[in-house]
Amino acid sequence: MIILGIETSCDETAASIVTGEGEILSNVIFSQIEEHAPYGGVVPEIAARAHLEAIDWVIEKALKDARIEFDQLNGVAATCGPGLIGGVLVGSMTGKAIAAALQIPFIAVNHLEGHALTARLTDQINFPYLLLLASGGHTQLIAIHDIGSYEIVGGTIDDALGEAFDKTAKMLGLGFPGGPMVEKTAAQGILGKYKLPYPLKGRKGANFSFSGLKTAVRQKIEGMPAGKIPFQEKANLCADFQRVVAEIVEDRTINAIEVFKKRYPKGGALVAAGGVAANQAIRSALKKASSTANLPFIVPPPSLCTDNGAMIAWVGIERLTLGCTNELDFKPRPRWPLNEISRYH
Ligand code: KG4
Ligand code: ZN
Repeated sequence: MIILGIETSCDETAASIVTGEGEILSNVIFSQIEEHAPYGGVVPEIAARAHLEAIDWVIEKALKDARIEFDQLNGVAATCGPGLIGGVLVGSMTGKAIAAALQIPFIAVNHLEGHALTARLTDQINFPYLLLLASGGHTQLIAIHDIGSYEIVGGTIDDALGEAFDKTAKMLGLGFPGGPMVEKTAAQGILGKYKLPYPLKGRKGANFSFSGLKTAVRQKIEGMPAGKIPFQEKANLCADFQRVVAEIVEDRTINAIEVFKKRYPKGGALVAAGGVAANQAIRSALKKASSTANLPFIVPPPSLCTDNGAMIAWVGIERLTLGCTNELDFKPRPRWPLNEISRYH
């Protein structure tokens, strides 16, 4: 089986060719970061236009890199939500057009399901497992029972974790996207210089809250000389911010594991996905949480944690194997929670 996966839900135009055996034959990612950087965040209109300009050559390159011709494809999988609807329309329409022209199956993919199943592509793990999905728009602990069977154990009641990283970076003038910049800057910081709150840490449940932390970071920055914050102070603040969020993630994950273990006393694993899972401090926190509970910890390589077409192609493979394909009139959705999807959507 050879599947083309297309991803256009945010600011990456991506296409990939993956085989039924899980071999990634190509993985092309065109990042629009430079176009959005002057605005300090993703501008939906700019993103939609940039996807439109890039989509054809990105798909052509994915085929060329994989040494695959269009007529060798057995199916096309494209992100149909959730995400910025302009971009989602560009990718899903292109995918449908290819499927229609080649008369091959089309699979409408939920972007979050792409992140959720990546560990099955990279590490061939079995169901069930507990997933921390942490990206720019989502922070959720999810029990992954089976394809199309997902149960939210905890979620954020305000900001997403990636958003907290991005906002901290923006306030410190570190650039966009913020997560990798905060991590890099934190590496040069000295811990313990700034007292920050730990929202919800030690409380029952597995929910997250980051808005109070964001406010505290803003207040610390407001207390510094405007426009000329020394680099070392930025690094110190990033280090403390990162330590706080890592401790929160560890605490919330331990509680979620408890819930998961009640349902599945034996077996299972802890899996991380989404852009924030590329962060080493978050990875160590999750590793600690999983070893406390004696669960294996699995995290895909950083390049497959952030948005890519391979994870979309893989969902296509999993779904096509089960015979779960979609009609070409499938409607793209800007909002599409993981626990609202089914085998046939
Ligand atoms: O999954 P993703 O690529 O796109 C979304 O679906 O949102 O995640 C992007 C998010 C951004 O907020 C970015 O700052 C964050 O993931 N991120 C990181 C790191 N790399 C990406 N956050 C912390 N540390 C990183 N190394
Ligand atoms: Zn994503």
